[in-house]
This record gives sequence, C-alpha cells and structure tokens, in this order.
Amino acid sequence: MTGNEIRRKYLEFFKEKGHAVIPSASLMPENDPTTLFTSSGMQPLIPYLMGEKHPAGKRLVDSQKSFRSGDIEEVGDNRHNTFFEMLGNWSLGDYFKKEQLNWFFEFMVSELKLDPKRLYVTVYSGNADIGVERDDDSIKIWKEIYKAHGIGAKDYDNGESLGMRDGRIFYYGDDKNWWSRSGAPANMPIGEIGGPDSEVFYDLGAELKRHENSQWKDKPCHVNCDCGRFIEVGNSVFIEFIKTDGSKRAATNGAHANEKKGCFEPLKQKNVDFGGGLERLAMVSEGKDNVFETDLFINVLNKVEELSDNKKYRDNMKAFEVIADHMKGAAFIMGDDKGVAPANVDQGYIVRRLIRRAIRFGRQLGITKSSWAKEIAQIVIADYKEAYPELERNAEFIINEIDKEEDKFMKTLVKGEKMINGDKMDGEQAFNLFQTYGYPIEMTKEICREKNIVLSNNFDNEFKKASVKHSDLSRTASAGKFKGGLADSSEETTELHTVCHLLLESLKRVLGDHVHQKGSNITAKRLRFDFSHSAKLTDEEKSRVEKLVNEAIKAGHQVSFEEMSLDEAKKLGAEGVFESKYGDKVKVYSVGNFSTEVCGGPHVSNTQEIKGVFKIKKEQSSSAGVRRIKGILQ
Ligand code: ALA
Repeated sequence: MTGNEIRRKYLEFFKEKGHAVIPSASLMPENDPTTLFTSSGMQPLIPYLMGEKHPAGKRLVDSQKSFRSGDIEEVGDNRHNTFFEMLGNWSLGDYFKKEQLNWFFEFMVSELKLDPKRLYVTVYSGNADIGVERDDDSIKIWKEIYKAHGIGAKDYDNGESLGMRDGRIFYYGDDKNWWSRSGAPANMPIGEIGGPDSEVFYDLGAELKRHENSQWKDKPCHVNCDCGRFIEVGNSVFIEFIKTDGSKRAATNGAHANEKKGCFEPLKQKNVDFGGGLERLAMVSEGKDNVFETDLFINVLNKVEELSDNKKYRDNMKAFEVIADHMKGAAFIMGDDKGVAPANVDQGYIVRRLIRRAIRFGRQLGITKSSWAKEIAQIVIADYKEAYPELERNAEFIINEIDKEEDKFMKTLVKGEKMINGDKMDGEQAFNLFQTYGYPIEMTKEICREKNIVLSNNFDNEFKKASVKHSDLSRTASAGKFKGGLADSSEETTELHTVCHLLLESLKRVLGDHVHQKGSNITAKRLRFDFSHSAKLTDEEKSRVEKLVNEAIKAGHQVSFEEMSLDEAKKLGAEGVFESKYGDKVKVYSVGNFSTEVCGGPHVSNTQEIKGVFKIKKEQSSSAGVRRIKGILQ
C-alpha cells in the first residue's frame, strides 16, 4: 500500500466511524507561540479540546502537515523526519479509550494488514505526586484486544531494566507515556492541557540484530529502546487534564495542590487525541525498515542518484536523507498558503537552514550542476499535489525562492567552508561567518564537528552577543531560541486575539482591500500580526489604524459567532484562509458590525472587556510583500 493509499484509507476508515474529515491546518500556527510550526495534529484544535464547540462536530479526522525543527539534526537514523504527515483522529468529549484503542488496532490489522504479533503497546504507569493513577483501563482493553487475536498479553513495569520477558503491554512514566505540547507533567506551564497516552510499537525483528550492534547492547532491549528494533507507529493521548496553580482545588481538597508541581484538574470533557506518522505507517506496511525507502521518498532519492552521477543511497545514506528530508520540509513550508521565503529570522530562518544544509550535503555527494535544488522540490510538488493542492498553487514561489537561495549560498559556500579551519572556533567568528557567508550557526557547528574543531565554552552566548550588536540581525535565530515558552489561555491572550480582528479590519480600512492576514502569534503580553502589504506604513497610517482599533474597543461591540458553510462565509465576505481550515463548516466571528472573520475563537464577548489602549510598537517587513506589526495593550 502506498503512502497516498494509507492516508486515504485512514480518513475513510474513521469517516465510516462517524468522523468528519477536516483539511490540514496551516504549517504556520495561529495564535500559538508554543512552536514556530504546527508540530502535531492537535495543535490547531486546542480550543476545541478545551471545550469550544467545533463546527464539524465531536469526531474529527485529518492528515496534518507537521514540522519539528528540533529534529533537524536527528535526520539520518531510520525514522526521523523534520516534515511529516500526522494522521490524526479526535474525540472532543465523545468516545474514549475503548473505542480508540480498538479502532486503531483494527485499522492496523484489517486495513494495513500488519501482523498483530509484531505489535506491542505501552501505557501510563501513573504518578502519585500529580494524583493520576496507572492506566488500568487501557491495560484491560489491550488484553481483550490481544485475546481476540489469540495472543496472550502479559503486562510489565520496568522494561528499561528488565527487558521484554515475553510481555506485550508495558508501563512507562511521565517521560514516555504522558503527552502535552511541552512534554511531561512537570514541564507543562499552568494552563496547558495533556494526559496519559498509550503508544503502539511495531517490531522490525530481533533478527536484524540492531540491538546487538548498538551502543545499548549491554542492556536489555525493550519497546522504548533507541536501538531501532521497535518503531512507534501511533499514539493515543487521553487529554483529560489541565494544569492549574492549584488555588481552586486547595480550597476543597488540599491533597494535590502544590504550587510548584501544579495541580492536574479534569477538563470539562475527556478527549482522545490520536497521532500516527504516515511515513512510519507506510514503512511498516510496505515491509521496509527505513522511512526513506517508502514510496513517499523514493522518487526524490532516485533524483538525487541521478543528480549525483549515480551515487547510491545505500552507500551515502545520511547525505541522501538530509537532502530528501530537508528539501521536502522547505517545499512544504514555502508552499503553505501562509508560506515564508528564506530569511534570517523565525520560520524563514529554518527554511534557509534546510535549503543550505541540503545544498552542502549535495556538494559532498559531488553534485556539481547549478540550480539543482529546485529539481528536488519539483518532485515533492508532483508527489504531493493531490493531497496538498496548495503546493501546486504556490509552486512558482517555491521554485523561485529555492533557486535564489541556492544561487546566493553557492556564491559563498566554498569561501565560507575554507574559513572554518584551525583547532578552535568561537561564537563571534561563527557570527561573522553567518553575516558574511550566510552560514547558519548550526551548520558551522556541524562542520566544526566534522573537522574536529573545538568550540569555545561560551560559543552560543558569544554568537548572540555579536548578533545583538547588529540591530537588523538582533532577532537572529540561535540554538535556544525556538524552545520558547507556552502561551497560557489567559484573559490577556483572549483580549489580544479579539484585538487582532479589530486590527485586520482597521488595516483594510486604512490601506485597502488587498490586506489579508498572513499569520499571527499572540502571548499574554503582545500580539504579532502579519499581513499582505508591500510598503512601510507611514506614521499617519499607523495612528489612523490605532485610532480605529481603539474606537472599536470603546464602542462596546458585541462579539458573537455563527456556524455556516464555507460558501456562506465567502458570500458574507468574511475574512479568512478558506482553503485550509476546519472543513466544510466554519465559525464566523463578528465583532458588532465592525468585522467578520472565519476563526476558531476564543474571544471576549464584548470589546469593552479589552483592558487598555492599543498601541503599535513596531511595524516592519516580514518577507516579500508581507508586513509585520507588533502591538500591545497599554
Ligand atoms: N498529539 C500526539 C502526538 O503528537 C498524538 O504524539
């Protein structure tokens, strides 16, 4: 079964089980400063997991474009990608563990024809400190499922130290079997949602001797071992908790109120959030032991072979994988309807890093031809345009930008590489390499590792310091920057979200109807808003915009929403990205008669609830044809 077939089958399977198929949301998250990119299927659905009503209902299924920049340097083992498709299904306070675990197992065995004997599962072992017990419900459900397939299923704790012991079901703690956007319970900020999860692993087989040949050979192998014998193919998260500061609970029950650890209180509803990597499911269903050998990558690998004068993938795995992974990631980020071009900051910086790293590995493979990177992107577009038509819509932009980037980088690539020599390198030198030769800091580090050049102790800080000196580069991405803090779902954030609607409408009134939203990012302290417009705003335009926003706040407009079909929303002239949001039915938010916009919420109910005076703190270019405003409530 090809990747395209698996995607289709999965959507159909859950559609038959009463799920609405919704399109992938944008790779650029909206109102969510947690990550630079959408990195899991649940991210665009957070308001609905917290209790907002989703226009398409309580059962949803999709294939979400996802990108994890933290994995850029992991690419090269048999299973990591930066860009991947996450198959996801959700119950928004509807079905729960029993249906979810049964359905996913049925999908794997009946639809993908996976051998159930190769499937192993994990469940949450519980944590008394946060008042959440071992997930015995899931253990019981898994035993019944295995029994129905004639497989005995023993369950065990301590897989790390005691190994498999002929078991099927294993318990792990906070680090492995709890999921939230920020990981384990202790890492969750107040206001974040999450819960215990249950993962399914596919056994690639002991006969491959991965474990015996790995650095873990002296320890027992277990399902979460990093040797690569087991690969995780799906994760069912039971999102039923929100982390609070415990103040409410303390009044009624002091038991788990602990300001430092936080308090885990039940959400309004018990949700299921399932995610499974399409590439990995394709890999196991196609009987491969490497995601890159699936049909989702094969055309690209063949192209790399051709471009490199017939070098073989199996002899040059890392270089092939980096090129294939990174060029796909770059094509999808640029090909998004809110796509960005290579740049020195934020998402654009990641695109730059991806393209430049791929080009460097291409040169290592001996690709000498110029303008080759776009040929890889062309294959990605052809392979995916049916499932993601935006790639074709934005093909010209992707190809042009890749070409420009390749051209720019090729001019300095060789010179820059020559500068990386000697036995030591400090952060200031790395900054000069970045500034003069366009070498992303991570690439410089990687080359230093290859050449055994030692980095100074204070490398990252030196780099940052040097970059702060250069005002236009002061926001330069450096290693730690993208970890970011989570936004809460505080009142302030909600207020600023409503202000975004007022801002968009005000910009349209002042600048013209060509203005559309290109992205936004809101924290409790400020909003960042990207919109289509090519010229710098004059001081007069800025104060007219501020005035309109502030008048709308004072006017006390009622905020309300209505659910309607996309067509109706379009007829109403509502603002919004129509191609890639929420499925057939959408929510249209109206702020009095001031603005109408397709949006998921949440919002204040009356603009008078917005505290303070709106002020534009900065107005600058974000990328070609896109301006960015940073604003606050003073
Ligand atoms: N949200 C869960 C994950 O990303 C399903 O693994």
